[in-house]
Amino acid sequence: MKGKFASLILFSFIAFVSLTDMKFSRCGDNNIYRGLNCAINRVAIEGCNVNVTKDCSLKRGNNASMVVDFTPDFDAENSTVTIHAITFGEKAWPGMDTNGCKFMTCPIESGVNNTYSYGVQVSYTYPLATVPIRVVFASNNQPKCCFVTKIKIEKSN
Ligand SMILES: *[C@@H]1O[C@H](CO)[C@@H](O)[C@H](O)[C@H]1NC(C)=O
Ligand SMILES: *[C@@H]1O[C@H](CO)[C@@H](O)[C@H](O)[C@H]1NC(C)=O
Ligand SMILES: *[C@@H]1O[C@H](CO)[C@@H](O)[C@H](O)[C@H]1NC(C)=O
Ligand SMILES: *[C@@H]1O[C@H](CO)[C@@H](O)[C@H](O)[C@H]1NC(C)=O
Repeated sequence: MKGKFASLILFSFIAFVSLTDMKFSRCGDNNIYRGLNCAINRVAIEGCNVNVTKDCSLKRGNNASMVVDFTPDFDAENSTVTIHAITFGEKAWPGMDTNGCKFMTCPIESGVNNTYSYGVQVSYTYPLATVPIRVVFASNNQPKCCFVTKIKIEKSN
């Protein structure tokens, strides 16, 4: 299953379609994420087909973009942002540009609202599955903001 995840193609993308609010939860299941106080205010995805299920369904071949509104409780010159699929163990999102400052405002200032926006194209070879993902913002290799949500991959038309 590992190789299939590696076939995702990612790139920056800004779509002019509607945002779907995502259900998300805090990352409290692991000591390194416990006690984080960074506030995640909204997670939304552009490019979901919301009629199929209540999950965000992404069609293969389509573009999608994730938007995260958050209120940091830390100051940082820069931040990495990583996405891991957590279905088959922990699998880093291949090809992701983890330099978060390209996709949000830096430096990050405590208490100042910020928005992270990152686009992907879903590969035709991506597995048709519901995939829980963990998104982590880190500074100096320390997790600072973390949430879990899930996306569903479906066939293209
Ligand atoms: C969802 O279904 C409604 C009613 O059938 C339709 O008007 C709308 O265009 C559909 N939206 C999508 C994203 O398919
Ligand atoms: C996705 O974005 C790329 C780059 O902007 C564009 O070339 C492509 O046509 C888009 N695909 C869809 C299905 O909108
Ligand atoms: C990120 O910021 C830290 C200090 O906050 C600095 O030491 C480091 O060089 C910066 N890295 C990049 C890639 O700018
Ligand atoms: C920051 O975002 C939170 C949550 O959306 C909101 O309640 C607050 O008013 C925002 N603060 C500023 C200064 O915009």
